[in-house]
Amino acid sequence: MATEKIILDVDTGSDDAVAIICAALSSKIELHSICTVWGNRPLSQTTENTLRVVDMLGIGEKVKVYPGCETSMVATLLANRHAGYGGQRKSVNGGEEKSMHQETIDELPPAHTLPQDKRAVMHYVDTIMNSEDGEFTLVPVGPLTNVAMALRVEPRIAKKIKQIVLMGGGCRRSNSTAAAEFNIWGDPEAAQIVMTCGAKVTVVPLDATQNACINSDEVAELYKLGTPAATCVADMIKHRIEAYSYLQPMDRLDSAPVHDALTVCYLIQPDVLEQVELVRCDVDISGGIADGQTIIDPRAYTDLPKNVNFAFFANRDKFSDLLFKILRGEG
Ligand code: BDR
Ligand code: CA
Repeated sequence: MATEKIILDVDTGSDDAVAIICAALSSKIELHSICTVWGNRPLSQTTENTLRVVDMLGIGEKVKVYPGCETSMVATLLANRHAGYGGQRKSVNGGEEKSMHQETIDELPPAHTLPQDKRAVMHYVDTIMNSEDGEFTLVPVGPLTNVAMALRVEPRIAKKIKQIVLMGGGCRRSNSTAAAEFNIWGDPEAAQIVMTCGAKVTVVPLDATQNACINSDEVAELYKLGTPAATCVADMIKHRIEAYSYLQPMDRLDSAPVHDALTVCYLIQPDVLEQVELVRCDVDISGGIADGQTIIDPRAYTDLPKNVNFAFFANRDKFSDLLFKILRGEG
């Protein structure tokens, strides 16, 4: 089976860490390089966290890490539009402040691999313009600042790539605000640029990821696999389950979504996503209460052409099985 050659774009982040591990270990994916972006944490930390995972996997020689944008394209210019990095960090009812993501991934030693000097935006432009048509799939699982900036610098990359598969948005679900999911809310203008760039775009929103939660029984099984990668995945998901139980309880309390890993897993086994429909999707960039909302046009005849494949659901059991397969070296 043909492998998918990808550039992963991460704001690592616990679920980004699992996504990197899945992309690196799957035989169906050729992980070409990794770009980092601001998001769950400032860029310096998302880059350090990414490099720690890269070192744990021992892929630093082959898979280079390119630091990207340190903040959104323009969203921070409007006062009070942003709550800052890692929007999912708060105290509930006056209790201790908790965060969805660790400051740094403490379970892994400080990184020894260095990031590249070249910035992510230039990396995208040079690599894609020098590639065969359809060679690369872009997989952004953080705010879309890097990809949108690259599209602004060199719009021809939209025609050169095979597709973009991104994590973000929601139709009936949100997390950062009543209307918006974190990756889109973080840089709404960038998200709108990416979703309307003309490339094939698949959106893996909260509607899919929150329906594919991994639970603490599965975490216990992951620990039993005993490899450094499986232990890291188990650590990351354990942290997520604790944070979700406090900050954003799911239907089943001892479980948590692993958004970015589900997104990568779609490229390995597409049927982990269900109800994937071609729709018209735009991002609210008004700065009002719907700022960063992904708005799906439900009408049969939309004013503007349908532009993204939007996954309205996911198959939890298939995702869980695939995660184990990948970690056993069978995925
Ligand atoms: C997204 O936001 C980040 O916190 C996660 O890493 C994921 O990419 C989920 O809303
Ligand atoms: Ca992320």
